[in-house]
Amino acid sequence: MMKIGFIGLGKMGVPMAENLLRGGYPLLVYNRTVAKADGLVSQGAELADSPIDLIEKSEVIIVMVADDEAVRTIFNDFDKLLSPEKGKIVINMSTVSPGISRKMNDRLTRKGFHYLDAPVSGSLKQAQEGSLVIMVGGDLAIFENVKPILNSLGKLAMRIGEVGTGNVAKLAINSLLSFHAQGLAEAINFASERGIATADLLELINQSALGNIFMKIKGDAILQENFNPVFALKHIAKDLRLAKAEGIDSPLANAALSTFTAAEATLGEEDIIAIIKQC
Ligand SMILES: NC(=O)c1ccc[n+]([C@@H]2O[C@H](COP(=O)([O-])OP(=O)(O)OC[C@H]3O[C@@H](n4cnc5c(N)ncnc54)[C@H](OP(=O)(O)O)[C@@H]3O)[C@@H](O)[C@H]2O)c1
Repeated sequence: MMKIGFIGLGKMGVPMAENLLRGGYPLLVYNRTVAKADGLVSQGAELADSPIDLIEKSEVIIVMVADDEAVRTIFNDFDKLLSPEKGKIVINMSTVSPGISRKMNDRLTRKGFHYLDAPVSGSLKQAQEGSLVIMVGGDLAIFENVKPILNSLGKLAMRIGEVGTGNVAKLAINSLLSFHAQGLAEAINFASERGIATADLLELINQSALGNIFMKIKGDAILQENFNPVFALKHIAKDLRLAKAEGIDSPLANAALSTFTAAEATLGEEDIIAIIKQC
């Protein structure tokens, strides 16, 4: 089985890496905050000293970090490699801009790597269950080569076009996600200010054509006043900025960008649905 190196052991990275271990893959891990690797090491993963150490020892390198800046930091290490790493495959699963994927692809191709952008839809629960939806940009043959790896992380891995298209699809989906979060928050606040119990409204929504997993999970979180970050609000604010930079300029996208950006300073570390405190 291919030896996999996994960089970025945050909320999503840890359960994803655990699924690779469960799938029987030999696994090396690296994280800026080293302690976050402890659980994986006790389950059998090997700890790399640095990104370079990991890159040199792995055949496939998965990157799951926060944003463009984090990706840039990690990828600077690829430039420190003394000899080309022919045929190694880098799968960047972070939600980042299509532009950085295209740049990283150019840089890495010169170093002998293949690059795929493969951001995911789904959250902590789906990462734990291995039921993420993975959208992939890059060469078809390379995608086919790593599909078994992606299948141990998700229920669907779909190649949709050239490098960067996975990131574009992800920004489209996350724009829609922000509309749902803001919409749910506004509907609850509107009803509640007029005396309707939030539990009742949520029951009606969940039984209606609008009921879906997102409404159920986030509705429950609102009822329990549990705003611990499953998907941090700062990440959706970042994604809306990335979509704007990519050229989205529609009424809902502009409204969501303004709402989530305004909320970021105070609610950024809480879950996306903490937006209800701002609406
Ligand atoms: N959470 C979700 O529900 C969800 C769902 C789909 C997609 N995503 C996307 O998946 C990615 C990871 O999300 P997450 O929720 O796992 O985020 P997270 O818990 O905040 O973890 C972020 C990871 O990036 C690393 N990192 C951040 N800045 C860095 C830097 N400058 N240099 C090196 N490493 C850096 C962090 O290292 P440290 O541990 O040292 O801070 C950590 O490993 C994001 O792009 C997010 O938008 C998240």
